[in-house]
Amino acid sequence: MKEINIVSHPLIEHSLTIIRKKNTSTEEFRRHAGIVSKILLVEVMKGFETSHVRIKTPLASMTGKKLKDEVVVVPVLRAGLAMLFAIQDFLPAVAVGFIGLERDEKTAQAREYYRKLPKLLSSHQVLVIDPMLATGGSFDDTVTALKEKGAKNITIVSIVSAPEGINRVQKRHPDVMIFTAAIDDHLNDRKFIVPGLGDFGDRYFGT
Ligand code: PRP
Ligand code: URA
Repeated sequence: MKEINIVSHPLIEHSLTIIRKKNTSTEEFRRHAGIVSKILLVEVMKGFETSHVRIKTPLASMTGKKLKDEVVVVPVLRAGLAMLFAIQDFLPAVAVGFIGLERDEKTAQAREYYRKLPKLLSSHQVLVIDPMLATGGSFDDTVTALKEKGAKNITIVSIVSAPEGINRVQKRHPDVMIFTAAIDDHLNDRKFIVPGLGDFGDRYFGT
């Protein structure tokens, strides 16, 4: 089983505290969710391999580096979009696949309402992004769908995770790496993360 990576950084802790606060405005929530996502994703991509490439600067030839493997990002709609906006600043040409999942308010079971994935090769580095890992149902279903399409190197990235969800993903997908900014205490009876930050999608999109 791959170990879980908890990304800690003073700027993440600062911005995460702001998005956790009940009275944070939509504008502030978006700004600080963006900051957390960017730092988190930079840390995730630290593990990516590079290969050499010959280039010419205006003055000379030299050997530079480029990312070795093609990256595919899969935001879980809709809250995953918040993290997609952040990653596109570093990887403007990245291929994006979409999975739309919505949890039933009563059962907390995720229901798929949309799917559009690019062709996936075993060499692709696939990043599945969703800010909340609660029961783990949404990540579990998404990773299963990606494996069925041929993905082999899958990393999931969340901002806040619950121990219950981490256990589920690790059991079902021991080959998948998990990065998160925080592991919270537990899920409540409505399967919300406690202390958490509430409904990420509603707070980010102002609904
Ligand atoms: C939230 C969140 C995750 C999911 C996590 O989405 O963005 O996708 O719940 O819960 P799980 O680990 O128990 O599956 P939600 O269903 O509220 O939809 P939204 O992104 O459209 O707000
Ligand atoms: N989805 C959220 O947005 N928040 C939670 O606490 C759990 C699932």
